[in-house]
Amino acid sequence: MHYSNALSRAPRSVVVLTGAGISAESGIRTFRASDGLWEEHRIEDVASPEGFARNPTLVYDFYNQRRRQLQSPAIKPNAAHSALARFEHNFVQAGGEFLLVTQNVDNLHERAGSESLCHMHGELLKSRCLNSGLIFEWREDLGFDSVCRCCQQRGNLRPHIVWFGEMPCHMNVIEAALTRCDLFISIGTSGNVYPAAGFGQLARYAGAHTVEINLEDTRSGFDEVVLGPAATRVPEFFNSLLQNS
Ligand code: APR
Repeated sequence: MHYSNALSRAPRSVVVLTGAGISAESGIRTFRASDGLWEEHRIEDVASPEGFARNPTLVYDFYNQRRRQLQSPAIKPNAAHSALARFEHNFVQAGGEFLLVTQNVDNLHERAGSESLCHMHGELLKSRCLNSGLIFEWREDLGFDSVCRCCQQRGNLRPHIVWFGEMPCHMNVIEAALTRCDLFISIGTSGNVYPAAGFGQLARYAGAHTVEINLEDTRSGFDEVVLGPAATRVPEFFNSLLQNS
């Protein structure tokens, strides 16, 4: 699959958005597939401030399970994560602007070497103090008996995850990059959750060429749709883009 050079010239500013689909081939479940996370848990119970207030133990357990799984030896970046990191380093070295925005809370992009990276929905390996809002690296289970590192109290830490109804992180950086980019690529997201689902339209309004790489065509109005598994299509696409840049 070669990058159809729909741009009249090589891109100078690229924004990539990733969703759960890019981590699926690393063994991390997506949300809305038939075997997805939302088949076993109600979003309002485990991914909302109200759910956390109602039953914090359920919420702590939900994220503790996912945090443990993420740190198991079997879970590692796949060829799609590596291809994005490789592209970023070469493209930036050649003077290009690059931003990777992920909805994912895993750390596979970092482990693959991505640097210009925004986690707009938070990070599984971080916790947040309910009093101060300070954020900490956090790899062990989180619960009522966890001692907060800023106020030394127990029971006032939450997962650093953006829940439904809460404001995503880094929106100012993301929106600035979207208005400047001339190429926007969405990888492995169903386009169900805003504001991420609207980024393609924002980029198009700014004159960018927009591409979707996914197993399915989400019919979200992208200029170009590349169908197939991310671990295959993403290296093909970005290696070809590098040759054309
Ligand atoms: N390669 C490419 N795409 C894939 C692959 C794969 N191997 N496997 C699945 N996909 C695609 C699916 O076709 C689907 O479009 O990834 C997408 C996954 O969609 P969701 O499960 O809805 O995940 P996502 O879009 O990341 O969800 C967005 O919703 O629940 C919230 O906060 C959560 O960040 C999440 C947000």
